[in-house]
Amino acid sequence: MNLPIEKHKINYKNEWLTPIEIINALGEFDLDPCSPIVRKWDTAKKHINQIEDGLKTEWEGRVWCFPPFAKESVKWLEKCAFHGNCIALTFVRSDTKLFHQVVFPTAYALFFLEKRIKFYSLNGEQGDSSSSPSVLIAFDKNNADILKNCKLNGYYVDLKF
Ligand SMILES: C[S@@+](CC[C@H](N)C(=O)[O-])C[C@H]1O[C@@H](n2cnc3c(N)ncnc32)[C@H](O)[C@@H]1O
Repeated sequence: MNLPIEKHKINYKNEWLTPIEIINALGEFDLDPCSPIVRKWDTAKKHINQIEDGLKTEWEGRVWCFPPFAKESVKWLEKCAFHGNCIALTFVRSDTKLFHQVVFPTAYALFFLEKRIKFYSLNGEQGDSSSSPSVLIAFDKNNADILKNCKLNGYYVDLKF
């Protein structure tokens, strides 16, 4: 939709940015479909923001997806599963519909990060440790292998053994 920026209803909640060291440890991504309108740093070769709407856009290549924390996270993770070539980041909430209906049935592998992430805000300041633990989710074999061999501190769990 090509409305001028001031005509869009912009939501500045959910602007929690992944420390770039985590993304760098996972190799180069082609696309980040849920990216801030103004980025502190690149997370992929191409970015889609809320004005362009990454849920409605076709995804191509290797995707990094840390979706907005909202009811819509089910839709984002379903799109990751459908796309396949993707690593997603989300909070560990293993008692939710998100995990039981999307993550566990579709993911290839999970990587539970050992430490709580200290996310960055849009002004570049790093916050305190997150209130929840985080997990990286691979939706295909190649990205599962990348999680298995990455140098991040955490525990790899294969779901397709
Ligand atoms: C949790 S942040 C992750 C930011 C970045 N991908 C990262 O990993 O650091 C979620 C981002 O999704 C953006 N967002 C929200 N709704 C969106 C939509 N419909 N399409 C694309 N991006 C969206 C927000 O503006 C926010 O920057």
